[in-house]
Amino acid sequence: MTERNPRTDRLSLRRPTEADHAKIVRLVDEWWGGRHMRALLPRLWFQHFTATSWVAETEDGRLAGFLVGFISPDRPDEAYIHMVAANPNLRRQDVGRRLYERFFEDVRGRGARRVLAITWPGNRTSIAFHRALGFRLFDGPGTRSIYGVPAFPDYESDDEDRCLLVRELDVPG
Ligand SMILES: CC(C)(COP(=O)(O)OP(=O)(O)OC[C@H]1O[C@@H](n2cnc3c(N)ncnc32)[C@H](O)[C@@H]1OP(=O)(O)O)[C@@H](O)C(=O)NCCC(=O)NCCS
Repeated sequence: MTERNPRTDRLSLRRPTEADHAKIVRLVDEWWGGRHMRALLPRLWFQHFTATSWVAETEDGRLAGFLVGFISPDRPDEAYIHMVAANPNLRRQDVGRRLYERFFEDVRGRGARRVLAITWPGNRTSIAFHRALGFRLFDGPGTRSIYGVPAFPDYESDDEDRCLLVRELDVPG
């Protein structure tokens, strides 16, 4: 049996609201270690994707983490995680795992059969985290080894390489 973490056992997860945007967007650059991330989190995510996203809070109401995701309108059997982060003061305490597990359960119940995410091939923490959560790195056509992992060169634009992470969802019976 997995040993639980006493601090994150007391986390509560809820749906984000539009009012969360201002608070979260202010923190994301710092939570990504200074990388410019806020441009990837316009307000629209907190207006149109809250029904498939999650916010984690500590008992005293501090933001512990968030996950912004959705079920693909084009491919209803696929869910996609756009962004996830844990409060730097609460890393390696299962915040990310709790957010992902809740997302998996939620989207599986709505008909998704796999979950996709992308990350930078140099983001070793993100790759280790996704692997630990059961994702595999797609290594099919169009990928080549970048920083030692399969990735699509110039995936977003010139020099913006990305790894595609895929996790199948177990569907009973
Ligand atoms: C990636 C991130 C969300 C992980 O959140 P977290 O709450 O610290 O992760 P968890 O405690 O749930 O870790 C689950 C497992 O992932 C793996 N993992 C997490 N962080 C890791 C690290 N720094 N190095 C190696 N493995 C790691 C471990 O296997 C871990 O299990 P363990 O602690 O029992 O060994 C967090 O590091 C973060 O917010 N990073 C900055 C934002 C980012 O890069 N997001 C992902 C790209 S969108």
